[in-house]
Amino acid sequence: MSDVDLKMEIHLGDNLEILPTFEDGSFDLIYIDPPFNTGKIQSRTSIRTVRDEQGDRTGFGSRRYRSIPGDTTSYADSFDDYLAFLEPRLEQAHRLLAPSGSFFLHLDYREVHYAKVLLDDIFGRKHFINEIIWAYDYGARSKKRWPSKHDNILWYAADPKHYTFNFEAIDRIPYMAPELVGAEKAARGKTPTDVWWHTIVSPNGKEKTGYATQKPLGIMRRLVGVHSNPGDRLLDFFAGSGSFGCAAFEMGRHCVLIDDSPRAVQIMTDRLALACPTVHDSSSASR
Ligand SMILES: C[S@@+](CC[C@H](N)C(=O)[O-])C[C@H]1O[C@@H](n2cnc3c(N)ncnc32)[C@H](O)[C@@H]1O
Repeated sequence: MSDVDLKMEIHLGDNLEILPTFEDGSFDLIYIDPPFNTGKIQSRTSIRTVRDEQGDRTGFGSRRYRSIPGDTTSYADSFDDYLAFLEPRLEQAHRLLAPSGSFFLHLDYREVHYAKVLLDDIFGRKHFINEIIWAYDYGARSKKRWPSKHDNILWYAADPKHYTFNFEAIDRIPYMAPELVGAEKAARGKTPTDVWWHTIVSPNGKEKTGYATQKPLGIMRRLVGVHSNPGDRLLDFFAGSGSFGCAAFEMGRHCVLIDDSPRAVQIMTDRLALACPTVHDSSSASR
């Protein structure tokens, strides 16, 4: 499938108002990364570097630079009743999932256990397949308890006996003790377990958009490649900077992205410029 055949849709607005407009069973893979209920304002200010002969940094050709704050992106991440917020949206995810489809809910230790109980109720316990732990190693380390350095991704299948799982598409990682497995196996590497070690989006790397809570493309590519096929229709209805949509586009999948933040929609539209997305404004401001 060529890129021009791919349909990328972006919606600005409350997902609970937009999701009911899609047909039952119309998505092959749904991934969501809602606010984690951290009780904070999630905010990030990007840093721009400008030429300044008085600047404190030296760059190419011994030119002097200084850093100045760029745009700030933020959203409130505090809920009185988090599960009441999540439940109707999870019910929509269940309704929208195709018969061989999979649903992934990305959270952290704060709410994941409550959400698991809720999802068992909505999907049925037998539909739970895995809890994926995304482990990273970045940032401050508490000296008062074990530093929390992982997120939790719950996987439910519409049909626990028939779902897309492209084993051959799984990327290989190095063995911890290659000398124990022989040269051939060591060269091929192994498939990961349900614990995925992957760095966060580097604050200085080229993947960074400046959007608070942006998720790495490496994690998104693994989900898209293994749990969907080229030409499938994917959905992320807490899309943020659009990382999931970028992986979907790169890998030849159609994708619908929803977010209620105009800044998020602007960032994902820019990131997906090559995909020529159609952008719909369903926000209350536009009515
Ligand atoms: C954790 S961030 C998603 C980050 C994203 N996975 C990425 O890689 O950039 C959660 C997003 O949910 C959005 N959001 C919160 N409530 C929403 C709602 N009711 N409808 C649509 N989007 C919402 C926020 O604006 C925020 O961008």
